[in-house]
Amino acid sequence: MYVTLKEVLKDADRLNIAIGAFNTHNLEMLPAIIRAAVKQKMPVIIQTSCGTANYVGHRNLVAICKSMAEEYGVDVVLHLDHAKDFDEIRKAIRAGYSSVMFDGSSLPFKENILGTKQVVKFAKEYGVSVEAELGIVGGTEDGVVVSQEKVFYTEPRDAVEFIAETGIDALAVAIGTNHGQYMSKTDISFERLKKIKEAVTIPLVIHGGTGVKDADVKKVIDLGIRKFNVGTELLVGWNRKSKECYDQQKENVSNRENVVPCLETIEMIVTQKINLFKNISE
Ligand code: 13P
Repeated sequence: MYVTLKEVLKDADRLNIAIGAFNTHNLEMLPAIIRAAVKQKMPVIIQTSCGTANYVGHRNLVAICKSMAEEYGVDVVLHLDHAKDFDEIRKAIRAGYSSVMFDGSSLPFKENILGTKQVVKFAKEYGVSVEAELGIVGGTEDGVVVSQEKVFYTEPRDAVEFIAETGIDALAVAIGTNHGQYMSKTDISFERLKKIKEAVTIPLVIHGGTGVKDADVKKVIDLGIRKFNVGTELLVGWNRKSKECYDQQKENVSNRENVVPCLETIEMIVTQKINLFKNISE
């Protein structure tokens, strides 16, 4: 079924697992991500930046998510990632996205609350879920760079106030991960995550999943992470495989000869991540 973030994260909480939220960067990648989820019999969150949504077309993305959810009997959420602009959020919701993230993390605390509240009010009218962020996650996302000096971790006390004031469905936390970290892995502050988890009851979201060590996935899920974002690993996997194929193939081969191996790479990465997110003990 085509579902909201709130619905899939509620089940994830009950089962102590995380749901993979995969950034699709073009139209081709999208079915490959959903196919991997179907084979793993797990729900999936497809997320797009505002840039990807405008490039592919919001309604095209909604249509594919809905038709694949129906055809394969898999739960699919379509989520707008890191939207800072209310107009972008309205556009996605009106086109049929089932979940949005308002990213007011760079705003002063009170302004973040006000912006998020406005989004929650609008989203509720359409039955759409809302994720918001408190603290600042560093790194590079869709070409936007947040330097390490700007990073600050989520304060558990602020999180309690923020959730009570805004009524959000999920909270993105800053605990040491960085967007776009694919050459190395990060050190997570488990202590900080534990304190946040003890203070709040809503599902928590980890950004910058590419830079998280496989060995840390279980630890963060056990500490309340329910939505696990992965973007760069898919992008890098696609670009590497694509470069290899285009270099080797003749210029006049069917485009499928170059694209299908990239899709296989995407399916493989998503499958491996979903298996980790199932949080099965050895
Ligand atoms: P990565 O691109 O680092 O995996 O992060 C994805 C993300 O957090 C999307 O918001």
